[in-house]
Amino acid sequence: MSETVPVVDGLPMIRGGCPFDPAPQLAELRRDHPVARMVFPDGHVGWLVTGYGEVRRLLADRGMSSRGDLLRTPIPLPMAGDRTEVAPGMFTAMDPPDHTRYRRQLTAWFSARRTRSLEPLLAASVERHLNAMIASGGPVDLVTAFAEPVAALAICELLGVPAAQREVFSRSISALFTVHSSAEEAIAGWQNIGGLLMGLIHAKRAEPTDDLLGTLAADDSLSDQELATIGSVLLVAGYDTSKNMVALGTFALLEHPEQYAALVADPALGEKAVEELLRYLTIVHAGSIRAVGADMEFEGHRFAAGDAVSLSLAAANRDPALCDEPDRLDITREPLPHLAFGHGIHQCVGQPLARLELRLVFEMLARRLPGLRLAVPAEQVPTTPEMIIYGVRKLLVTW
Ligand code: HEM
Repeated sequence: MSETVPVVDGLPMIRGGCPFDPAPQLAELRRDHPVARMVFPDGHVGWLVTGYGEVRRLLADRGMSSRGDLLRTPIPLPMAGDRTEVAPGMFTAMDPPDHTRYRRQLTAWFSARRTRSLEPLLAASVERHLNAMIASGGPVDLVTAFAEPVAALAICELLGVPAAQREVFSRSISALFTVHSSAEEAIAGWQNIGGLLMGLIHAKRAEPTDDLLGTLAADDSLSDQELATIGSVLLVAGYDTSKNMVALGTFALLEHPEQYAALVADPALGEKAVEELLRYLTIVHAGSIRAVGADMEFEGHRFAAGDAVSLSLAAANRDPALCDEPDRLDITREPLPHLAFGHGIHQCVGQPLARLELRLVFEMLARRLPGLRLAVPAEQVPTTPEMIIYGVRKLLVTW
């Protein structure tokens, strides 16, 4: 069957008319060829998988590897050519048993009780930034006035980063996420983050704290280097995602006024709204990526060891196999088993925090700003289709 499948030249990223719908080519592929071939930026011919069932099964398949020395990025990132050895602690790029060893400690920390304990602090942060926005009178850029500081505070609280260093952290992280960064800027970004984290780790080793990094620092079996790497993985994985879900989620609600009105009428819909926005927007639109560990058959195709596989979470979450009218945003839907946080052993470890943060954000936005609306035409809102994480650069709103 492999001979008849189309070969796609790179992961389709550029969107059509609607800024919330994935690239139109993905829907065609999902309908006709949910498993297709794809040319990766380095010329390697691997696979592109777009069907919900197919993506979900592969993410759960232990034959698929996340080893960093085997993976290829589906888009041309500044450091994409560097398929070097995986640093100790870079658990996202490891398979079991190495991955399991690190992951277990993080999962234990993100207990329901611990997540709940962050609620008062996150709620206060959301409230404070909403107050400042309201006081400024508008129009304001919701990205810089709200999404960035709320997301930065959550991740910095999680790790125990002091307020004075948050600005530098945020800028270094942003440099890693755009194709507009040079390799030098991306490397400098990593070095900055590493240096800042190392300082924190030394302080936490000397004086233990209750935050995630402090808890990990109490474990002597983890080296300083491992801790710094784990910390940077959490920052990178947690900051841009949360920021973009807040800003893009707000944009989507304002472009669907009847949905925002439903939330305003009943802010308790917040939890369902978050699940639906996660599914509908699937901001990790260049993910997930895996490599085939050993030759295998999949849906009549022969996957060879070492083949790169791009698993489109965005296409999968719009599959009619998942729900009725998948292209419609409906915040009253019963929560679906969507793949916005991935699936299987690498499924998002920060999802309890992300869910809490987003619920507080959308509930409180609806309560405090029932008249929220865009201050510019939707076509003028700049989006980021070229980034691993999809979102908006700027969102001018008023109320
Ligand atoms: C709305 C926000 C978020 C979204 C949409 C999101 C999405 C994802 C996705 C799709 C994956 C799976 C990647 C794969 O299959 O390879 C993932 C993994 C991960 N996420 Fe998130 N994430 C979010 C927030 C966070 C937060 C707040 C944190 C940390 C505080 C975080 C930490 C991680 C980590 C460490 C992994 C890797 C897990 C592993 O390899 O075992 N994420 N996330």
